[in-house]
Amino acid sequence: MSKVLSAVAWPYANGPRHIGHVAGFGVPSDVFSRYMRMAGHDVLMISGSDEHGTPILIAADEAGVTPQQLADENHRLIVEDLVGLGIAYDLYTRTTTGNHHAVAQELFRGVYENGYFLEQTMYGAISPSTGRTLPDRYIEGTCPICKEPGARGDQCDACGNQLDPHDLIDPVSRINGETPEFVETQHLFLDLPALADALGEWLDERDASGTWRPNVIKFSKNILSEIRPRAMTRDIDWGIAVPLDGWRDNPTKKLYVWFDAVIGYLSSSIEWARRSGDPDAWRQWWNPAAEGDAQPLSYYFMGKDNITFHSQIWPAELLAYNGQGAKGGAAHTYGQLNLPTEVVSSEYLTMEGKKFSSSKKVVIYVADMLERYQPDAFRYFVAAAGPESQDSDFSWSEFVQRTNSELVAGWGNLVSRTATLVAKNFGEIPAPAALASADEAILASTLTAFDTVGDLIGRNRMRNAINEAMRTVAEVNKYVTDSEPWKIKEDPERLGTVLFVMAQCVQDLNTLLSPFLPFTANQIDEILGGTGDIQPLPQIEKVDDLDLEGRSYPVITGDYTGIRSWGRHDVTVGTPIEKPTPVFTKLDPALVDEELARLGL
Ligand code: MF3
Ligand code: ZN
Repeated sequence: MSKVLSAVAWPYANGPRHIGHVAGFGVPSDVFSRYMRMAGHDVLMISGSDEHGTPILIAADEAGVTPQQLADENHRLIVEDLVGLGIAYDLYTRTTTGNHHAVAQELFRGVYENGYFLEQTMYGAISPSTGRTLPDRYIEGTCPICKEPGARGDQCDACGNQLDPHDLIDPVSRINGETPEFVETQHLFLDLPALADALGEWLDERDASGTWRPNVIKFSKNILSEIRPRAMTRDIDWGIAVPLDGWRDNPTKKLYVWFDAVIGYLSSSIEWARRSGDPDAWRQWWNPAAEGDAQPLSYYFMGKDNITFHSQIWPAELLAYNGQGAKGGAAHTYGQLNLPTEVVSSEYLTMEGKKFSSSKKVVIYVADMLERYQPDAFRYFVAAAGPESQDSDFSWSEFVQRTNSELVAGWGNLVSRTATLVAKNFGEIPAPAALASADEAILASTLTAFDTVGDLIGRNRMRNAINEAMRTVAEVNKYVTDSEPWKIKEDPERLGTVLFVMAQCVQDLNTLLSPFLPFTANQIDEILGGTGDIQPLPQIEKVDDLDLEGRSYPVITGDYTGIRSWGRHDVTVGTPIEKPTPVFTKLDPALVDEELARLGL
């Protein structure tokens, strides 16, 4: 049993989420966290809305509201999206809380006192038409290194190098196409070169563990060779004040996203602990355990444009706060903080072969998906065909085909024929007589699947894991076809045995699939005579800010202690079973054209 931190990337509160976002960080983190809880680990799953920075300012301007109003509205919508998908956070909060501001500032002071900030002059990009600063990512141009067009100011996706917007060839603003102006400005830079050796050691050790996806560890080691100081403050008026004399009251200098949202992992753990009644409880996930005890583990989930944040910037900040870089230093109030165990990054999801783009309306919002389709159908698609280690494409035809052939005709049909046959012939789960070798073999298969599928989920190989589970579904379907229970008319003992075996296999498969398909797992549990709460679901709760008077906000939280444990749960002979209604909704192929028409394709 270990303490496991599931740290999920913080979505920008600049608009509702589309399915590409949640395919990267949402579904994979939830499958992992549910499984780890089932396996007996003590999971703390945290995240929140990233509400500061230029993306929010720009959206607020467009909507004609204040940044806080815009963030409030989008936070509310994102909370609904994530709860609708069943993502089981212990706490999903936001960066505009008093707690988050205080934690980010404490980290800043610790890093500053340890000597890892350098004050330097840099060129900041501003928009000539509005006078506003432009964030790195909102500037595009030709990469100065590989000469590919379409590089962003922070990074070139073509060659993977980190960039400075000032170095881009022919830079333009993504907001309105104008050429940015560069002006000199003073900022505090994190002294990354002084942390490079410590980062390198940590990455080597992580590499040796062999668990990271190869593309992620390779990218992370690559960017280490290009390391240089990075500004952690920006010229902007919406954000967290820089907690230093001479800076604190300057209304136009704030902490940058690299020293704001990433710290949310720690601040949300602290907020969760403060709300739990044991304000120090977060330490069990963040500070090293006593010698000889299991060390806490931490897994970070994100899309690939966030790898740098998590495999370089965030661990460097932790090392600097801990005083573990070349300049030494001491740990501060929070003690020594643990670096990530694993950075679990997805690649990109495209849609009908195109890049998602809210502005070009090449987009499917989570809310629209959930209004028209079952959350588990979407979760299934992401787990089985999502961008786990290479880019993948969402198409409506593949969504319909997978839902109908794999969920409806494969898994749903097995559940339905099992319950229907039991209901019709016995009205309850029958007692088995002596098992034939085919019965024993299939029961052995579903039992072994707990080891194979569990091991794969624990290593974040979700596609393989769900394929393995679905292969076992197919095996059980074959057992049913071969056993022909509908033809066993004269031998109630044999019929009872086959139906008992089917019921146990469905129970096993339902447990195996439940981290992927929590909503239908509960329904199927009820069909099998259970209480229908084997996978607890998250809830929205309105809470008061712990530090700011008169402010309240919705969070996602939940009680997941009752989750079913991983492994076989024996069915109980004599449990009444009724004829079921279908669990999965069959999709009409005509909807492919309807959906494509909605997208203008
Ligand atoms: N909101 C930012 C983004 O979407 C950062 C998310 S990752 C975090 O790119 F580490 F900052 F939370
Ligand atoms: Zn490049």
